[in-house]
Amino acid sequence: MSDVLPLFSLAGETALVTGATRGIGAAIADALAAAGATVIGTATSAAGAEAIAARLAAAGHAGRGVVLDVDDHAAIAALEADISAREGAVTILVNNAGITRDGLLMRTKPEDWDAVIRTNLGSVFATCRTFIRGMVKARRGRIINISSIVGVMGNAGQTNYAAAKAGMMGFSRSLAREVASRGITVNVVAPGFIATDMTAALGEAERNALSSQIPLQRLGTPADVAAAVLYLASPAGGYVTGETLQVNGGLWMG
Ligand SMILES: NC(=O)c1ccc[n+]([C@@H]2O[C@H](COP(=O)([O-])OP(=O)(O)OC[C@H]3O[C@@H](n4cnc5c(N)ncnc54)[C@H](OP(=O)(O)O)[C@@H]3O)[C@@H](O)[C@H]2O)c1
Repeated sequence: MSDVLPLFSLAGETALVTGATRGIGAAIADALAAAGATVIGTATSAAGAEAIAARLAAAGHAGRGVVLDVDDHAAIAALEADISAREGAVTILVNNAGITRDGLLMRTKPEDWDAVIRTNLGSVFATCRTFIRGMVKARRGRIINISSIVGVMGNAGQTNYAAAKAGMMGFSRSLAREVASRGITVNVVAPGFIATDMTAALGEAERNALSSQIPLQRLGTPADVAAAVLYLASPAGGYVTGETLQVNGGLWMG
């Protein structure tokens, strides 16, 4: 056991998780903190940031909550300055914040296209560009971008979301090649259908129909996704880069 556990230890690491208030992001923040990382989790509101801080404190974990709109690139730069002054370089960056603005293409408004591309893909460009400098100086780092099964399968009514999520995969492979020599890995986790607020809009009948299509016969949980992120962030995942890890119960097998 003692030989196995250090493979998943994040002691001494500082992790930034965007969208850590609920759902998948909250589970990721909790898992990284439980593995020993100091976790900075972002929320879009002060109340959300306070809730993240309270959750981490209640579990006896190191970290804090901060307010961040990932569409605001100046705020990302300001957050980097704040973290560098308080915790030092971010060595694990998890881009999890995401939104949907679903609709068939013919009815998709340009503003719904722009919002999804900006929040789900533009934010990844901005955070990676901002936080990679500290990783380069530290000569180590892990970037994990949360994409979606929809980025590989497609989904009617989600052209904007699928474009952003597929874009993350190409972006991550390219960045992985740029920074591998600096000891930094860049990977993608692509969840299938996970029980969170984002999928709560589906009715029970729709959820049951979906489960019957999934080889493992159930929707995923945020903890299922967090475990994959922990693997890629930990020493155990150190030789994996430019990869997309599908966490989808077998619904799509690449
Ligand atoms: N659920 C699924 O089935 C599923 C499947 C595949 C991929 N994913 C992806 O996994 C990620 C998390 O999904 P989820 O289901 O956990 O989502 P969720 O429950 O809807 O939570 C979304 C998170 O993103 C944050 N957020 C939204 N807009 C933001 C912005 N402009 N700036 C900063 N943070 C923002 C929210 O913060 P507030 O709480 O402050 O609003 C919240 O923490 C997303 O990237 C999603 O696309 C989800």
